[in-house]
Amino acid sequence: MAVPSDLAPGRPALAAIVAGLPASTPFVGPEALERRLGRPLGVRLGANESLFGPSARVIEAMRAAALDINLYGDPEGFELRTALARHHALTLDHVVLGSGIDELLGLLVRAYLEPGGIAVMSLGGYPTFVYQVSGHGGRIETVPYRDDRNDAEGLVEAARRVGAKLLYLSNPDNPSGSYLTGATICDMVDRLPRGCLLVLDEAYAEFAPADAIPDIAADDPRVVRLRTFSKAHGLAGMRVGYAFGAPETIRPLDRIRNQFGVGRMAQAAALAALADQDHVATVVAAVAAGRADYAALARELGAVALPSATNFVTIDVGGSVCAKTILAALLEREGVFIRMPGAAPLDRCIRVTVGRPEERTLFAAAFRRVFACL
Ligand SMILES: Cc1ncc(COP(=O)(O)O)c(C=O)c1O
Repeated sequence: MAVPSDLAPGRPALAAIVAGLPASTPFVGPEALERRLGRPLGVRLGANESLFGPSARVIEAMRAAALDINLYGDPEGFELRTALARHHALTLDHVVLGSGIDELLGLLVRAYLEPGGIAVMSLGGYPTFVYQVSGHGGRIETVPYRDDRNDAEGLVEAARRVGAKLLYLSNPDNPSGSYLTGATICDMVDRLPRGCLLVLDEAYAEFAPADAIPDIAADDPRVVRLRTFSKAHGLAGMRVGYAFGAPETIRPLDRIRNQFGVGRMAQAAALAALADQDHVATVVAAVAAGRADYAALARELGAVALPSATNFVTIDVGGSVCAKTILAALLEREGVFIRMPGAAPLDRCIRVTVGRPEERTLFAAAFRRVFACL
């Protein structure tokens, strides 16, 4: 049938912000790498997932939730938010759920950054924050890592200089594995310029020493903290995380969040995971042992493992060309997926997630073979 000319096929022009974006996502996923390689990966140690899995009680809760999966989940996430509020000694109004920290970063950007507004972060820091800011038409001002950690002073200074609305900090940090002390973070908060919000991404908090966790008043309007069930709880595929902070700062996210974005099974899984702190403690101890293994492996090969407060280890292999060569050889020759930091000075390193002992053994053997051929 002929299409009348006033209904001729076509589409509206892309919105200007989207038209100006590169056709890329922050990460090439391991599945895409497998398709590119034409075979499955042997070892998957690039995405800082937990190789130790969720607890048995979580699997049980998910099985039970599956029986009611025809029903929408609670859009207010009441039970889970209540449990999280209790866990952190907060009220329900201090907690917002999201389908992972990644979604919550996007909501914070939409809520607080005008298109054209500026956010500050470390150069080579967590790329999803850049992705969310760019997708909203914001600008990023970066500050290089100093001594392989976030430069607390440099970040605050940059926020003042450019009039930033958001300062993003991952603590403990991805990709360096380092951490700033809670006292340093409190000092940053006190020196933030007026009208600048600290977005404190604590995805790896469970793995960090106690002094990495800042003592910030629940009602401090200058900070939003982000946590996830993707790491220590072993639920990366489930997509559930949360933000907590002063109600006046975080409740506006309710105006724009995807109301059913945290599904019924995700809420049930997170609730069971939060209740099983023994599992978290077991994973944290197993990860600490794995970090020590990687440090020993690095020493054996004449490389240097940076100290890590996370579930991965960043290993200095001496230069970015070397790091890229190792990454490519591990992937193509050995079927081992790891990642490396994207910017100097950390791009002289590779980044390896702590796997179970069997994955660590496979990684060590592959790494030794690749290193021998450099
Ligand atoms: C610093 C940091 N924040 C957030 C995330 C992702 O968290 P989620 O799975 O909750 O979106 C990661 C995952 O690697 C991360 O490294």
